[in-house]
Amino acid sequence: MNIIDAKILELPKFLDARGNLSFIEENKHIPFKIERTYWIYDVPGGVARGGHAYKENQEFIVALSGSFDVILDDGEIRKVFTLNRSHYGLYIPKGMWRQMENFSTNSLALVLASTKFDEKDYIYDYESFKIAVE
Ligand code: TYD
Repeated sequence: MNIIDAKILELPKFLDARGNLSFIEENKHIPFKIERTYWIYDVPGGVARGGHAYKENQEFIVALSGSFDVILDDGEIRKVFTLNRSHYGLYIPKGMWRQMENFSTNSLALVLASTKFDEKDYIYDYESFKIAVE
């Protein structure tokens, strides 16, 4: 997959005197069916998460609270996306090397995934990733 397929997607936002409400429907606001949801929280300062690619899994990441950076690399181009609002998220196609870092205190990353957890879907070695996407 090419890095241009990775995109910030705006979500619906209903604003009234009681505050904001946003939501996500599969195959509508994001381009896949949701098979799994997980979240990343209480990340100590200075720590990086990820540092791997998925062969099949696609993801959509929302910063429900705080901020962090998602660094994507398609084997040729590297791009940094800063997520810091909960009315948009980052769509990550399969086959993208990715890392998350610069987590602010109390940040909360919601991740929607297109596949069930499968350790065999991970590529942990960057050189193997480069060969796979050549
Ligand atoms: P990992 O994907 O390595 O986290 P990150 O990409 O943020 O560095 O996952 C950490 C551990 O959690 C790993 O042992 C696998 C496990 N895990 C599950 O069991 N199910 C899941 O859905 C996820 C995402 C991880």
